[in-house]
Amino acid sequence: MNLAVFSAKSYDKTSLTAVVPEQISLHFFESRLTIDTVKLAAGFDAICVFVNDELNREVLTQLKSLGVKYIVLRCAGFNNLDLTACKELGIRCARVPSYSPEAVAEHTVALMMTLNRRIHKAYNRTKEGNFSLSGLMGFNIYGKTVGIIGTGNIGLATARIMKGFGAHVIAYDPFENSKMAESIGFEYTELNTLLTTSDIVSLHCPLTKESHHLLNDASIATMKTGVMIINTSRGGLVDTQSLITNLKSGQIGNLALDVYEQESELFFEDHSSSIIQDDVLQRLLSFPNVIITGHQGFFTAEALEQIAVTTINNLNLFAEEKANPNSLF
Ligand code: NAI
Repeated sequence: MNLAVFSAKSYDKTSLTAVVPEQISLHFFESRLTIDTVKLAAGFDAICVFVNDELNREVLTQLKSLGVKYIVLRCAGFNNLDLTACKELGIRCARVPSYSPEAVAEHTVALMMTLNRRIHKAYNRTKEGNFSLSGLMGFNIYGKTVGIIGTGNIGLATARIMKGFGAHVIAYDPFENSKMAESIGFEYTELNTLLTTSDIVSLHCPLTKESHHLLNDASIATMKTGVMIINTSRGGLVDTQSLITNLKSGQIGNLALDVYEQESELFFEDHSSSIIQDDVLQRLLSFPNVIITGHQGFFTAEALEQIAVTTINNLNLFAEEKANPNSLF
């Protein structure tokens, strides 16, 4: 079995090479998979892709004609994959649904606390001998209402941590998990109630047609003035232009993003010596109460190891024609 790994970074090489069995030969491509790079997949039985690789109908059709039989995603979200086209073309695909929900949940809380206690500003100040506290005042998380949208693996892990802070945790999910709500100690509410009553709103649902721009001018207007919003899920869940408008008016008090609607051309690469053309992103970065990280929520040693193990296992199960709960098709 020949596996072509797209968007490969040094850490992908290390983690996948450590677990790959002899019968699978790996080839790493640094390029992102797009219609322009799809020809690199010629001669491979399977490809391994990540969050910003493009798996639309056109690319999938090319993959099929090049002989690719399997696609293994080394991530949980699969909004970049046209599943209907995959089924029609008969290309089997699988993902890694839950490699380390704590990795993303802990990053969510890191963003929350950095923003709240202005650690990003304090770090720079004290480096320069400035020990003034002016502008660094935060608020206690204890007793605040934290709204979690999406109570899958990551949402539940985040709820668990926030309960440890002594926060009042509420959640919205069209598929409620009442057993976990009771054991962790949070309550389900309607989405509207969550938006109007939360001091902090954290997004943990997948990007779908229904959840696209879930946070927009209309929904943000119903939120508490000065609300903190954290998005470690997918950029398309929020209307970025609305975020800017509402940051300018003060309706949003704090914002942290680990994901961005237009991230595919920028994230995971070093652009520090070039002129970034994305004015929306640059405007967001200019706010003192905004923190952006480059889709690093998943990035822990434990998560990378688990991703590699599951990805290779997904491929083995396809090759052996065995049932696999991680299979999307
Ligand atoms: P999951 O599949 O375990 O849970 C998702 C939950 O969202 C489910 O309970 C589902 O019922 C719910 N949901 C679906 N549509 C919804 C809607 N419109 N409103 C509210 N809830 C809705 O997924 P998991 O593992 O918790 O991951 C969540 C998301 O986190 C992924 O879809 C992915 O986009 C993102 N992610 C981000 C990473 C990062 O590095 N920043 C890494 C891994 C995942």
